[in-house]
Amino acid sequence: MTPTTHNATIQVLSTASDITSLPSGCIFVATMGALHEGHAALIRDAAQRARGTSAPVVISIFVNPTQFNDPADYARYPKTLDADLSLAHSAGATHAFVPDVSLLYPLGMDAAKSQAAAITLPPVATQPNLEDSRRPGHFAGVYLVVWKLFELVRPSAAIFGEKDWQQLQLITAMTAEMNQRHGTSIRIIPSPTIREPDGLAMSSRNRFLTPAERAIAPAIHRIMHEARTLTFPAVAEAHMLQRLQHAGLHPEYAVVRDAATLLTPIPGIPWRILVAARLGSIRLIDNMAW
Ligand code: PAF
Repeated sequence: MTPTTHNATIQVLSTASDITSLPSGCIFVATMGALHEGHAALIRDAAQRARGTSAPVVISIFVNPTQFNDPADYARYPKTLDADLSLAHSAGATHAFVPDVSLLYPLGMDAAKSQAAAITLPPVATQPNLEDSRRPGHFAGVYLVVWKLFELVRPSAAIFGEKDWQQLQLITAMTAEMNQRHGTSIRIIPSPTIREPDGLAMSSRNRFLTPAERAIAPAIHRIMHEARTLTFPAVAEAHMLQRLQHAGLHPEYAVVRDAATLLTPIPGIPWRILVAARLGSIRLIDNMAW
């Protein structure tokens, strides 16, 4: 298929031959669509880095079935392709890679799930007892799809948001492994979390919050700020759990960890506060430098 042009400006690539026509060395932003201002910031950052070079700015839009441990979450994941293409174009993307599931998983979903299950994940995706234990199989699915996307898109750099902090550490470790095995030199560039004016981290799932829940959700950001004023990690963790519950959230974890390994913090090395909490039917995650 010939790449199609959306709004006469962004090239939409969907087949294997479309993607091989893309010059290698692009700056890449991987997404699952339902784009918001947080994604726009990543794309603007990519466009800024590409300025003055011939590097294309490529986004992928693919709701990856292998990373959803909850089928209901996959089924209701918002799909807003036209709006996504407009936003991506206005933020500076030159190409959108929108593959079908069969392009990434040609042998079907059972084979894809077995392939994901056979991956040996880096310790940051198995040891911290954070997202790794709350969402079994999730990181194997992320690892598998980002590896496949990198092989197809062949970027020189890829930008990922800090909002999914553990995912960012996983993708950084995965890319180091890929660079070593393939002789590539893909660079992972972290980009700060974009927040609503009241502090809530932007997320495609925020649209599912009821007005009452939306009013409660910014408490996570406020409480992480409070925690930073306390002296010891254990005190900060107890404070966060108590304050999150008091605000009407159901915390799954609220911890202070080594920012890179996500294990016990060691003095003198950067620390990160990480929180996951349920609010109605939504699960919110956020993090902040200590
Ligand atoms: O962060 C996301 O949106 C997804 O996990 C990613 C990296 C696009 C892989 O599907």
